[in-house]
Amino acid sequence: MKAIVMNGIGGSDRLCHVERAEPVPGPGEVLVEVAFAGVNFMDIGVRQGMAWTEMPNPKILGVEGAGRVLARGDGVEEFKPGQRVAWVYAPGSYAERIAIPSRALVPVPDAIDDRTAASIMMQGLTASHFATDFYPVQPGDIAFVHAAAGGVGLLLTQIVKLRGGQVIGRVSTPDKVAMAKAAGADHVIVDAEGRFAEDVLRLTRGEGVSVVYDGSGPATFQGSLDILRRSGTFCWYGPVLGGPGPLDIMNLPRSIKIGYAVFFDHIHTPELLRMRSARLFDWLAEGKLAIRIGGEYRLADAAKAHADMESRRTTGKLLLVP
Ligand SMILES: NC(=O)c1ccc[n+]([C@@H]2O[C@H](COP(=O)([O-])OP(=O)(O)OC[C@H]3O[C@@H](n4cnc5c(N)ncnc54)[C@H](OP(=O)(O)O)[C@@H]3O)[C@@H](O)[C@H]2O)c1
Repeated sequence: MKAIVMNGIGGSDRLCHVERAEPVPGPGEVLVEVAFAGVNFMDIGVRQGMAWTEMPNPKILGVEGAGRVLARGDGVEEFKPGQRVAWVYAPGSYAERIAIPSRALVPVPDAIDDRTAASIMMQGLTASHFATDFYPVQPGDIAFVHAAAGGVGLLLTQIVKLRGGQVIGRVSTPDKVAMAKAAGADHVIVDAEGRFAEDVLRLTRGEGVSVVYDGSGPATFQGSLDILRRSGTFCWYGPVLGGPGPLDIMNLPRSIKIGYAVFFDHIHTPELLRMRSARLFDWLAEGKLAIRIGGEYRLADAAKAHADMESRRTTGKLLLVP
């Protein structure tokens, strides 16, 4: 079968479209034909050697997708051949087929197509956790969403609005503004250098925002602190673009709550994975949430998808089509 492997740590040129042996489902695993594989910023982090270094190279990239069950390994009773499934946090998704632990799979309802299912898993589960658990947005809250036209950003904006909050979004270029507004952002600030604080304080009459969701790297960190209202919450989530360095608690604004929200901690059991993805599928089927596909690439063009994402040109979800 065809797959995208990384031959070593580095730029998108380390990705190669190669022939790999057919995967065989081991005990507890399910063999799936991949209809769409999701591209996530974390894949860039893996490629740059920030995660999953314990898996030797060359390794197949990608952690997310949707497709159809082909066969089951020993001990798997759920998921019949032909059934439509989606997954996240299953390494090896940039491929025509993948053998996945059954605990990483969720059934996809008929109302949700494969494209949508593959698009919602990582970014949707992340965004819903941020707005419903890490900081449960209440009606009237004002949320500041960085990279508001990106994969997580568009979904986070919609979920904050769904819960009755207001959204001020930040995007790096004017062409992304309409996209963030279409997702429900009440105001969108164009800024690529971390100079958004003054605008936010003006928009909130000096009060600041209830919560900041920031996965945009060191350049935005201080601005995000500066726009928090009294006892505001800082949800930091961007390991790939980098952190602010060591923090001195005495120099942080008093009484704020700050934390590093990590996917793996909030979706740590198969039950949570299935419950949270079912809620996302319901919201999609009811028209409360919409996916915006920013680009579909042939599997062979995975390196281009990475390069585009890193260039800050993309919006919404990027998918690979094996
Ligand atoms: N902690 C978790 O559990 C978790 C889970 C999923 C994702 N994430 C993080 O969430 C963020 C978004 O992920 P995503 O997959 O949805 O990607 P994305 O938002 O679709 O794309 C990344 C966005 O980040 C901004 N960006 C890209 N390169 C940048 C750079 N060099 N400097 C500053 N900003 C840059 C761009 O927006 P602008 O140009 O408009 O700023 C770009 O659209 C990433 O930081 C990712 O690591 C964290």
